[in-house]
Amino acid sequence: MPAEKMRAVFARARRYAQDGAPPNALAGALIFNVFFETSTRTRAAFEAAAKRLGAAVVHLDQATMSIRNKGETYTDTLRVIYAMQPRILVLRHPQGGAAELAASLAPPGVAVINGGDGRHQHPTQGLLDAYTLLEFFGAEDLSGRRLAIVGDILHSRVARSDIAAMKALGAAEVRAIAPEVLCPEQTAQELGVEVHRDMEDGLRDVDAVVLLRLQRERMESDAFCPSAADYFRDYGLTAARLRKMKSGAAVMHPGPINRGVEIEDEVADGEQSLILRQVENGVWIRMAVLTMAAEAVEGAGVGG
Ligand code: NCD
Repeated sequence: MPAEKMRAVFARARRYAQDGAPPNALAGALIFNVFFETSTRTRAAFEAAAKRLGAAVVHLDQATMSIRNKGETYTDTLRVIYAMQPRILVLRHPQGGAAELAASLAPPGVAVINGGDGRHQHPTQGLLDAYTLLEFFGAEDLSGRRLAIVGDILHSRVARSDIAAMKALGAAEVRAIAPEVLCPEQTAQELGVEVHRDMEDGLRDVDAVVLLRLQRERMESDAFCPSAADYFRDYGLTAARLRKMKSGAAVMHPGPINRGVEIEDEVADGEQSLILRQVENGVWIRMAVLTMAAEAVEGAGVGG
């Protein structure tokens, strides 16, 4: 997404945060929240956003869908959902590309929003993280900022979306800090980030850091992955390591956080932590994305 479009999302999110959301903006619209993979905050934030805008929400997840145990295919499930004429489908799926496929099958008038597809992308997380950074810096872009992402870059869709957003918004430098197994050289090159193997070294002089959870569900084998204790020893963000960063630097994490693995209690609950601010902003950003998506398909036929 180009920076200009991101700024339009941010401007709307900021307006909602300041003035409150128009409670009927999506009145009469049906939104399907379909989660083929578990989620707590993304699911809740999309649902809260939709309800605050007056939409009706249908939620489907693994437990309530027959695709797993009754043999229905993914595309047939999508056809069933589209036949119910939603305005918006929010989709999370373990396979990269699932949202794009759903969008290609969507009838006119239906918008598809990617709520995270495999290790590929998590666009609304990228948007809310970028929004939170701009808010923290009180700036319109990230020029001159040095940012770091720590941990399981290889399996993380959040890393991909965050890095793309940070670069589009002009960050001076985006660093990856991770062991070889969690961020091979090739991955770093593909993402266009400089990789640091040593945490202290990588944190030096950064303005903000994003920590990531070990995505064990996406690892083909756990064999090479460090144990939680080893990971914390080498890459856990402790109060002592926090001091390597610029003074007052921001600490972020998309959640769910694992205390004592990626982050020490004192840092998670400390003054520099923006973790709950990310959650709050996540609702404003989803409200902006939902209304903009609805506008984009308006007048295009079914549901519009
Ligand atoms: C992330 C996700 O599911 O991609 N969480 C989130 O959406 N806030 C990251 C994770 O699961 O570690």
